[in-house]
Amino acid sequence: MNIAEEIIKLSQNENPLGPSPMALKAVSEHSESMNRYPEPYSQKLEVELASHVGVLPENIFACAGLVESLDIIIRNFVKNGQNMIIPETTFVAYKVLSKLFEVDTRFSTMTHYGIDINSIIENYNDDTSVIIIANPNNPTGTYINQDELIKLLEVVSPNTLVVSDEAYREYVSVEDYPDTLALQKKYPNLMVMRTFSKIYGLAGLRVGYVITTPELKLKLERFQAPFTVSHVAAVAASAAIKDKEFVDSSVQSNREVREQMYAELVELGFDLVPSQANFLFIHFPSTEKRDSVSKELRESNIIVRPTDFFGDSKAMRVTIPKPENYKIFIACFKNIPPS
Ligand SMILES: Cc1ncc(COP(=O)(O)O)c(C=O)c1O
Repeated sequence: MNIAEEIIKLSQNENPLGPSPMALKAVSEHSESMNRYPEPYSQKLEVELASHVGVLPENIFACAGLVESLDIIIRNFVKNGQNMIIPETTFVAYKVLSKLFEVDTRFSTMTHYGIDINSIIENYNDDTSVIIIANPNNPTGTYINQDELIKLLEVVSPNTLVVSDEAYREYVSVEDYPDTLALQKKYPNLMVMRTFSKIYGLAGLRVGYVITTPELKLKLERFQAPFTVSHVAAVAASAAIKDKEFVDSSVQSNREVREQMYAELVELGFDLVPSQANFLFIHFPSTEKRDSVSKELRESNIIVRPTDFFGDSKAMRVTIPKPENYKIFIACFKNIPPS
């Protein structure tokens, strides 16, 4: 059996190459100022993010990770008598927050493990105030293309907020992925979310941002407590956006291993979906089989994520490892029969 000497954690879609080196350097240079409070709202970072993505600062809302923005939206933007639509198999935080705040939530069905825009449209009514789409979707790694997103935006009222959660966008390699910033010009109700937790390797620092209209930014800010984005997080984020070399090598490594891993697992007879993200979704004939595979991997010091809480109890989600760990991972899988 191939046993990794250290734990190989493939359960939270973190960057296996570590944090951005430029962010690390910036953090160490600013460590002396930890006794100081950060800005109450991260205006300096918002100005830098605005120029990074090519919008105005009044279009950027910085937050302590996307989960903070999701919390604000789900808690406050769906009023009594209104509803929210999310896919059946998607990022667990949407469901957790909707339960916590007792939001009337409709679940659109999946087609071939992908988000089905037609099902979202079928669930939509005059009382739908928020629709959230993870694009690429977690845990399945599938994506919605430009035409599908436009189809949805054409149907819903301008008063319905359509959130495109683009936590994994940097890993996308297809041509028809939506150009959401261009679409926002025609559809101001399209809100775009991006994070420093994935490609930039800063999940532990908690920083992300939303790109939206000045009116919606103010609405988000109204519900945000001051000081949620720490000074260290802001400094790291502003350095990370300049770290092109790290972003490029993370994208490259992910793409190469993702392609190889997908091809080899399919060849071994496993059931999986092509992924545009930094993870693969592997489906099994039964929960027992899935659990026994997880156990075997765990015994080899490899941790993966069962997807029960995401909406599928027969699957696991595996973060794309770095090349040297991929060798250990695939050697383990080669000893496991698919059914
Ligand atoms: C689709 C999606 N959105 C948001 C997040 C969380 O982002 P953050 O770390 O910025 O809160 C995740 C984390 O796994 C995710 O998969």
